[in-house]
Amino acid sequence: MGVPQSPRAGPGQGGRRRDVGHAMAAAARAPAPTCLLLLLLLCRGLGASSGPRTDRSIQLQQPQEEVSVSVGQTLTLRCSISGDDIAGPVKWLKALGSKNQTIYDQKVSPLPRVTRAVNESSTNLTIYISNVQVEDAGTYYCVKFRKGDEQDEVYLSGRGTKVLVRASPASMAVSGPEHRAEPGSSVRFTCTAGGFFPREIGVKWLKNGAPMTAPQPQVTAGQTNSYNMSSTAEVTLQAADVRSRLTCVVDHATLRTPLMRTYNLSNAVRVPPTVRVLTEPPNPVEVNKTVNFTCSVEGFYPDAVTLTWLENGMKANAGRRPRLRETSQGTFKLRSLLEVQATVEKNQSVFTCQVVHDSQSPVGSAVTLQIAVPAADRGASNQSLADKGQHLLSLYGLWIGLLLEKGIFGLVLFFLFKRRMQ
Ligand SMILES: *[C@@H]1O[C@H](CO)[C@@H](O)[C@H](O)[C@H]1NC(C)=O
Ligand SMILES: *[C@@H]1O[C@H](CO)[C@@H](O)[C@H](O)[C@H]1NC(C)=O
Ligand SMILES: *[C@@H]1O[C@H](CO)[C@@H](O)[C@H](O)[C@H]1NC(C)=O
Ligand SMILES: *[C@@H]1O[C@H](CO)[C@@H](O)[C@H](O)[C@H]1NC(C)=O
Ligand SMILES: *[C@@H]1O[C@H](CO)[C@@H](O)[C@H](O)[C@H]1NC(C)=O
Ligand SMILES: *[C@@H]1O[C@H](CO)[C@@H](O)[C@H](O)[C@H]1NC(C)=O
Ligand SMILES: *[C@@H]1O[C@H](CO)[C@@H](O)[C@H](O)[C@H]1NC(C)=O
Ligand SMILES: *[C@@H]1O[C@H](CO)[C@@H](O)[C@H](O)[C@H]1NC(C)=O
Ligand SMILES: *[C@@H]1O[C@H](CO)[C@@H](O)[C@H](O)[C@H]1NC(C)=O
Repeated sequence: MGVPQSPRAGPGQGGRRRDVGHAMAAAARAPAPTCLLLLLLLCRGLGASSGPRTDRSIQLQQPQEEVSVSVGQTLTLRCSISGDDIAGPVKWLKALGSKNQTIYDQKVSPLPRVTRAVNESSTNLTIYISNVQVEDAGTYYCVKFRKGDEQDEVYLSGRGTKVLVRASPASMAVSGPEHRAEPGSSVRFTCTAGGFFPREIGVKWLKNGAPMTAPQPQVTAGQTNSYNMSSTAEVTLQAADVRSRLTCVVDHATLRTPLMRTYNLSNAVRVPPTVRVLTEPPNPVEVNKTVNFTCSVEGFYPDAVTLTWLENGMKANAGRRPRLRETSQGTFKLRSLLEVQATVEKNQSVFTCQVVHDSQSPVGSAVTLQIAVPAADRGASNQSLADKGQHLLSLYGLWIGLLLEKGIFGLVLFFLFKRRMQ
């Protein structure tokens, strides 16, 4: 105890200084080559005395400052140790919040995706991490531990390698309004994508292939080490948009070709119908004739429509279900026929075609049936015309009578005059 010359002197500073003193004394007495050797030993001793981190006898190289790797690829983390072998393990640690997570430990069986580049090597500590995920991004340290009495302590640490995981945008989608809107209204559409890295992303909108103006996408922090994007475009709907397509185009450094998602504006637009009732033959109608009321429902989208005929507000049966037709504009039309016997009782009846489109409030068109004065009455007027003719005829008779009368009177006068002359 406390023997100064003990070769097993403790690692304390005092012990080392004494060793240095001995070495200097020895060097003073020794010949030149021995002196040089001792000086070298002395330098090593001095280096060690200033602390483990600057120990020149062991060097840890972690050459990569930053590494960029794509999702699914294999990440190579380089580390090598040279110099004296000091008892204690080498580990790969990853900075994780306020703690360091062990990624690779020589003693413990490694994580399934982690393998050594050179098995069992005490100098080459390069590791591979296969099938890289965005979660793998972060700073990795190659650390040499020294065997401690109770637990291993950090002896040398690499300067850290920052790993960037390049990830393509995923879960891309375009969403429209919750409810349909009618032509003229302005509607917002949202394009989203998530889980990409790096942050820079390009978003474009096309309507029927033509570029639209849209504000810059909003980029927010997504799940660990990735970003999410949201872009909004505004469209003023038109009836013709039943056939329109909205496309969101996303471009990112990780993509060979841009990603595209299309939204059919037919999912967002509601075009209400125009409702008309046609009467054949037109009003007024002769009594007891058949009248055709045709309800024409045109230019609507979507095709969800129910049609009801009302006669003075009461449901009337139109018989066959009308057939739906699609127009070249993508909208729909239909025609419903209601045949009515134009009896005198139905004079001034109101016939309404009521249409409920896409669960909206009903729209309708109404006509009033007008029954003309019966044919029998008109026959009577013809009769009266004939009667008038008869009267006229009797007038002519009167004239003829008058003329005859005058003629006979003249003849009588003539014969009387002739007799007096004889
Ligand atoms: C993680 O380990 C590195 C390297 O040894 C060190 O520089 C860093 O301070 C450690 N971080 C934490 C939170 O322990
Ligand atoms: C470690 O091993 C890997 C794989 O064989 C090799 O690419 C790398 O150069 C080696 N590193 C050193 C420092 O020798
Ligand atoms: C390293 O060791 C692992 C597990 O023992 C083995 O699967 C692998 O093939 C070895 N790699 C090399 C290059 O020897
Ligand atoms: C980011 O986008 C993904 C879909 O790609 C989603 O699952 C996640 O919840 C989003 N995260 C945030 C914070 O918005
Ligand atoms: C959009 O419309 C096209 C044809 O017009 C059709 O092929 C496609 O399935 C539609 N997509 C959706 C999501 O409705
Ligand atoms: C119309 O028909 C009804 C019943 O069929 C009949 O009683 C009536 O006389 C007819 N009226 C005319 C003007 O033909
Ligand atoms: C009424 O409709 C029926 C059935 O379509 C048709 O046969 C008839 O000629 C039409 N009548 C008139 C006056 O249009
Ligand atoms: C039907 O009603 C109109 C208006 O009240 C009337 O002018 C017409 O004569 C009526 N027709 C019949 C056949 O009664
Ligand atoms: C009235 O008389 C004319 C000429 O004789 C005839 O053409 C017409 O059909 C008649 N009208 C009616 C309602 O009987």
